[in-house]
Amino acid sequence: MEKPKFKTVQEVIASGEGLPERYLHTPTGDIESQPLDAPVPEMDIPAIDLILLLSPSDNGRQELSKLHSALSTWGVVQQVMNHGMTEAFLEKIYELTKQFFALPTEEKQKYAREIGSIQGYGNDMILSDDQVLDWIDRLYLTTYPEDQRKLHFWPEIPAGFRETLHEYTMKQQVVIKQFFKGMARSLELDENCFLDMYGENAMMDTRFNLYPPCPRPDKVIGVKPHADGSAFTLLLPDKDVEGLQFLKDGKWYKAPIVPDTILINVGDQIEIMSNGIYKSPVHRVVTNREKERISVATFCVPGADQEIHPVEALVTETRPRLYKTVKKYVELYFEYYQQGRRPIEAALI
Ligand code: OGA
Ligand code: NI
Repeated sequence: MEKPKFKTVQEVIASGEGLPERYLHTPTGDIESQPLDAPVPEMDIPAIDLILLLSPSDNGRQELSKLHSALSTWGVVQQVMNHGMTEAFLEKIYELTKQFFALPTEEKQKYAREIGSIQGYGNDMILSDDQVLDWIDRLYLTTYPEDQRKLHFWPEIPAGFRETLHEYTMKQQVVIKQFFKGMARSLELDENCFLDMYGENAMMDTRFNLYPPCPRPDKVIGVKPHADGSAFTLLLPDKDVEGLQFLKDGKWYKAPIVPDTILINVGDQIEIMSNGIYKSPVHRVVTNREKERISVATFCVPGADQEIHPVEALVTETRPRLYKTVKKYVELYFEYYQQGRRPIEAALI
């Protein structure tokens, strides 16, 4: 299989060639006229207890209303508690990710993605000649359903990587189900209504991200502004280094650092299912001059045969249906993404 000929960011740095032009952003529009490393305020989002979301008690109702308020304003909850994973386990995922990216190039290249395929190790996907590149190296793996795994992309070194990723996937399944139910309850819907649309054949993709230190954080971006094409995304952000920012009312806010916790952001497909009540937030990652940053994102994606549309109970006279029925949304998503367009616009009625 042919491998892409572009260098990863780590290879660009190692080559000593300086910073290639292709990474430099020229400011466009109002929100981008600031240097990318300009200070931004911190967002104020609640911690959410997954177990409480499913409890019929008064505390449970309060938790649902916290969830409703966070997802309808920010589209993000930062600190998900009672997710069934120990700090030590989350730490292990973080350490294994760090160790993988620290391996010699030849070792990582064994898992290099092939042209036309998203899975595997490599640089930013390059879809056009004038695309400004993101300062990120990644390892992208489909983890679920198990028969969709391409194990030749799963690192054998560092030891334990494969087993830990498998264990993480199984543990995330529980969180995903609880979160779908919690979201449905918070909108006073039948608790399975989102899960039913998500489907039995839903997929999970995990992306391990490395953002190496960058000489020009004012002009180079880690991940350009985008909203996720998933139903929602589970993220383990770096526990020391900031970088993730969310857009709200035309302004950027940084996600605070809360070590060993999970952040969940709504993706476009929950925005569609909730008829726009829950927001799929635009977010980006800025770079850091001195420190590398690591994150692990898992995209929860409805099965390819599922028809995704606003649930009927959320379409009312005062809230008319906003989105068409979509299928295989993620394919459409990638076409739009690198052009800097918001794919969800294609789903608007
Ligand atoms: C993503 C993403 C954020 C991060 O992978 O879609 O937004 O902190 N990642 O790496
Ligand atoms: Ni994202």
